[in-house]
Amino acid sequence: MHATRLACRQNGHGRPVLLVHGFPFHGGQWDAITPTLARHSHVIAPDLRGFGGSALGPGCEALTQSMDAHADDLAALLESLGVREPVTLVGFSMGGYVALSFFRRHRSRVRALALCNTRAIADTAEVANGRATMAARALLEGPAPVIESMLPRLLAPDTLSTRPAVVRSVRALMESAPRAGIAASLRGMAARVDSTSLLPHLDVPTLVVVGEHDAISSPAEMRGIAAAIPRCRVIELPRCGHMSTHEAPEGLASALDAFVREL
Ligand code: MLT
Repeated sequence: MHATRLACRQNGHGRPVLLVHGFPFHGGQWDAITPTLARHSHVIAPDLRGFGGSALGPGCEALTQSMDAHADDLAALLESLGVREPVTLVGFSMGGYVALSFFRRHRSRVRALALCNTRAIADTAEVANGRATMAARALLEGPAPVIESMLPRLLAPDTLSTRPAVVRSVRALMESAPRAGIAASLRGMAARVDSTSLLPHLDVPTLVVVGEHDAISSPAEMRGIAAAIPRCRVIELPRCGHMSTHEAPEGLASALDAFVREL
């Protein structure tokens, strides 16, 4: 595959913090978190390949964008930005899958890890088949079917019924996702490896962040992830579903900021 230069937002000065967004979002997912972190850190929030300002490349409708390929893009980005110091790597959901791959492939670049609303296991055959079907639909119809199937699971029931501005902003974040980028990352997520056996080898300070009502990466599952990681702390965000960046931005920002400043 051709090399690509990822689009990214950079803010602040200090030790580098690399924020990796989820599916099907872009680096703007972190906009409410960045100001707090940027008071003490150099915050880098890229658009993964196929999202936001990062092109998938011409003729890529049939592409599988693996989590490893996303991870290698991030390593190339750090190289091109001249960031030599190891980063605090923060991955949200799909960004967490990418973060685990990055740790496997670029260990020396990782100072610490924050795994937000994510999973360590691979897809079941049923979930992987569902992603293949959704990839085909997204290529034909754009992001609409992805939004309709994901939105009810991304947000806590209370958010869906009482916080229309949050619902609107999460929907807007997904509406801009390019169809080929959606399809390529769906296929990549479906093909990702199970990372459960990696967890005991995550030998860096690690923070696990979970939403109280997360229907995609449940508190019980994420506590299991945390229990398997040697130097790990867990934060549970109350009244929050999967979308911690939007449902609990202050709690998430202060948890990440405190974590980074203690390192
Ligand atoms: C995400 O938020 O990145 C997705 O829910 C991840 C997934 O579909 O597994």
